[in-house]
Amino acid sequence: MKRVAIIGAGPSGLAQLRAFQSAASKGEEIPEIVCFEKQDEWGGLWNYTWRTGLDENGEPVHCSMYRYLWSNGPKEGLEFADYSFEEHFGKQIASYPPRAVLFDYIEGRVKKADVRKWIRFKTPVRHVTFDDATSMFTVVAHDLTKDNEYTEEFDHVIVASGHFSTPNVPHFEGFSNFNGRVLHAHDFRDAMEFKNKDVLIIGTSYSAEDIGSQCWKYGCKSVTVSHRTAPMGYKWPDNWQEVPLLQKVDKNTAYFKDGTTKEVDAIILCTGYVHHFPFMEEKLKLRTANRLASADLYKGVVWVDNPALFYLGMQDQWFTFNMFDAQAWWVRDAIMGRIEVPDKEARAADVVARVAAEDAGEDDYAAIKYQGDYVQELINETDYPSFDVDGACDAFYQWKGHKKKDIMTFRNNSYKSVITGTMAPVHHTPWKDALDDSLESYLQN
Ligand SMILES: Cc1cc2nc3c(=O)[nH]c(=O)nc-3n(C[C@H](O)[C@H](O)[C@H](O)COP(=O)(O)OP(=O)(O)OC[C@H]3O[C@@H](n4cnc5c(N)ncnc54)[C@H](O)[C@@H]3O)c2cc1C
Ligand SMILES: NC(=O)c1ccc[n+]([C@@H]2O[C@H](COP(=O)([O-])OP(=O)(O)OC[C@H]3O[C@@H](n4cnc5c(N)ncnc54)[C@H](OP(=O)(O)O)[C@@H]3O)[C@@H](O)[C@H]2O)c1
Repeated sequence: MKRVAIIGAGPSGLAQLRAFQSAASKGEEIPEIVCFEKQDEWGGLWNYTWRTGLDENGEPVHCSMYRYLWSNGPKEGLEFADYSFEEHFGKQIASYPPRAVLFDYIEGRVKKADVRKWIRFKTPVRHVTFDDATSMFTVVAHDLTKDNEYTEEFDHVIVASGHFSTPNVPHFEGFSNFNGRVLHAHDFRDAMEFKNKDVLIIGTSYSAEDIGSQCWKYGCKSVTVSHRTAPMGYKWPDNWQEVPLLQKVDKNTAYFKDGTTKEVDAIILCTGYVHHFPFMEEKLKLRTANRLASADLYKGVVWVDNPALFYLGMQDQWFTFNMFDAQAWWVRDAIMGRIEVPDKEARAADVVARVAAEDAGEDDYAAIKYQGDYVQELINETDYPSFDVDGACDAFYQWKGHKKKDIMTFRNNSYKSVITGTMAPVHHTPWKDALDDSLESYLQN
């Protein structure tokens, strides 16, 4: 029997477990599955911890999420095709669930599938190598409970360790003498820390927008967002400004490229993350920018140089949970021999074509459609339940419009499920007034 190692039990790794379990439930013979997870719980980034830096075992903390985090896109764009929100909660719920609600939803599906038995928790993978002579992978893992490092052999490795956990941290002159806190978004946990403070944010993507909005919602004095390329350009509240790139800080004064200055109490680097796989040997290590067409992955999942190795969820993400599902079902079928993977030349050509197609897109709408088409392409080749992918794209297009209209109220809107066809209810409290992000509070509709 083949042995398959899955690295990580976040949404991508869990999608892979569910894909294999789905085949098994239909009477198919599946490989032996071992999922290695370095944390003591599943859910990946959605498994919240107050910790930052190193965890209780001296491992880098994986979590980049924070208290009061609500989904930044409509849940109708990420719904599992085989497990709707209505099935999980027994009713339709509002469209931008907080973290705890989405964690509960992710967990509900894998509890139902009974796949926890395949996961070895508190077991980081330390090293993966491939032997050309035996065509087997050697995985070195560390059982943190017993403090025991051990080695096992596998026919396939699926890397699902995420790529929004190792921060990209630029340096700016004067940081060492700044009289306040400098932190990366990865270490941001509670916006209340910045109440009544003047906050400087570097970066203009989702972390910048959302962490700035959190600080505003929980009562900071002002938000200044500094951009390298272009401002976000939303209609921000009065105590919010966008400025060109930071040049240096001196004590509490920040100096910007246009010659302006601002006194600030804290600096939050919302400068993104790097793909980081220190446990993969050089010839197996993915090196890619955070983009929709990842480098070196045929169909976005198969390692071009060695088709026994797979990476899941490595793309930048409009689609998330349902894209991980589409990838996991496809990878399962490649491993089980239901899908034929072509030769190396064809695999490499596929990557080139995907990169060119992404580059040809002109705006975010094209990017959403591009990723929707990718999800559809994979689904068409497996038995993952088909769903209205264009309908999910529509939810994203509407979402973009709602953000443009009012960045502080977009989460008050609701959208139609592409799985069950029902419209989400309007949430009982506008986002800016809903200070309690608990599951109990959110589900009170
Ligand atoms: C701040 C933030 C907010 C986000 N909000 C949203 C949102 O609102 N909606 C949305 O759809 N998406 C959101 N995302 C995107 C997020 O990437 C996906 O939702 C999802 O978590 C990705 O799943 P994953 O399994 O690929 O990776 P992860 O969730 O990162 O999970 C990877 C898992 O691998 C484990 N692991 C890592 N290294 C090892 C190792 N060496 N050995 C063993 N295990 C290992 C980790 O412990 C972790 O459990 C957000 C991301 C961030 C950073
Ligand atoms: N509530 C939520 O659901 C929520 C909240 C936060 C994040 N997220 C998710 O988290 C993921 C990561 O988002 P992200 O915003 O952290 O990363 P990101 O999308 O990769 O954006 C990185 C940002 O950092 C800037 N940057 C990088 N290096 C810089 C430098 N040296 N100087 C100045 N600016 C620099 C980039 O600017 P340029 O444009 O100039 O390159 C870009 O604006 C996304 O999937 C997002 O959806 C979700």
